[in-house]
Amino acid sequence: MTDNNVLLSLRNIIKRFGPQDVLSEFSLDIYDGEFFTILGPSGCGKTTVLRLIAGFEDADDGKIMLDGQDIAGISAERRPVNTVFQSYALFPHMNVADNVGYGLRMAGVAKADIKQRVSEALAVVELKGFELRKPHQLSGGQKQRVAIARAIVMKPKVLLLDESLSALDHKLRQQMQMELKQIQRQLGITFVYVTHDQEEALSMSDRVLVMNHGQAQQIGSPREIYEAPRNMFVASFIGEINVFDATVVSETAELTYQVDINGVAKTAHAEFRLEPGEAVHVLLRPEDLRIEYIEDQPSDEQGFLGKVLERSYTGKTLDSLIELDCGKQLRSSEFFNEDDPSFDYRINQRVWVSWIDGWEHVVKAGELS
Ligand SMILES: Nc1ncnc2c1ncn2[C@@H]1O[C@H](COP(=O)(O)OP(=O)(O)O)[C@@H](O)[C@H]1O
Ligand SMILES: [Mg+2]
Repeated sequence: MTDNNVLLSLRNIIKRFGPQDVLSEFSLDIYDGEFFTILGPSGCGKTTVLRLIAGFEDADDGKIMLDGQDIAGISAERRPVNTVFQSYALFPHMNVADNVGYGLRMAGVAKADIKQRVSEALAVVELKGFELRKPHQLSGGQKQRVAIARAIVMKPKVLLLDESLSALDHKLRQQMQMELKQIQRQLGITFVYVTHDQEEALSMSDRVLVMNHGQAQQIGSPREIYEAPRNMFVASFIGEINVFDATVVSETAELTYQVDINGVAKTAHAEFRLEPGEAVHVLLRPEDLRIEYIEDQPSDEQGFLGKVLERSYTGKTLDSLIELDCGKQLRSSEFFNEDDPSFDYRINQRVWVSWIDGWEHVVKAGELS
């Protein structure tokens, strides 16, 4: 992200399909030059947002501003916006160069310029030398690169990518994620990327919008979304999380509360005011839980007794499924340290679960929208 100039602004958009309000009062600002990702479950309205920006759909109400200009009256072809779809949508009978140059030919760009720009775009996606191949002579990853080249050759202000990498296998997808990010940085084009894959969203984006049922749940940096989810939907949609039901006992300092979790007193920091007696969820990521032998139980920490149900070694981490004596199951993930003997603990080993004050995250109970 270069600066915080708003390039694209959606204001109070309403979009209906028949009786269904797919988007209601939907607003969003996207900054110039950022890699912006819309993340949400299938059917939540992601593609609809992109189609409205591209001009393939009209809003029933609201405004879309690009560079300060209302683009309602501008047809899809004339918007400085291009889309890369999941299904590459290449012309099968045309070679790579002709596929990439198609939009420029339609726009009446001079032949020599087309050749130059196609060659530059193919260099960006590392497909120089593939000019004369037909789509059926390309791998899935190469076809996707052609589709990207065909979009960036138009030098759009905004590039829309709708689940563009979903058809690729895991390894190729990871590689293309890195490359897309590099292409975006190199060209400085604003990317609006749609995905239902939270890992992809976190790893590529400057900012992420988490959506559900046509509504924005949270907008923020990947780190904000992961570490400070605003509600239970965001918390549980992004990565694994442990949820403790708690009741507020008292405020012990500014926005710091003593809470009761199943009879155990813990300190919890909130970003908003809570009242004694209020129900909250105290959230802990698997990597923020501390798992110890019972014998090493620290005297200064309030925690929970339990036992190990499952352990798995992932190469970097040791992941455990733990059952507390109250029956609650938790997931923990610890960085593997072969010199630490406590990593020996086995299935059914009794353990002590706690966390460092401040690593918890609090959301109000019942906010699952
Ligand atoms: N052309 C359409 N006609 C009727 N309903 C549609 C149309 N396009 C999308 N929808 C509905 O709008 C909702 C959002 O769809 P979509 O934007 O494609 O979601 P996503 O891309 O997040 O999976 C879905 O319930 C879908 O069935
Ligand atoms: Mg979609």
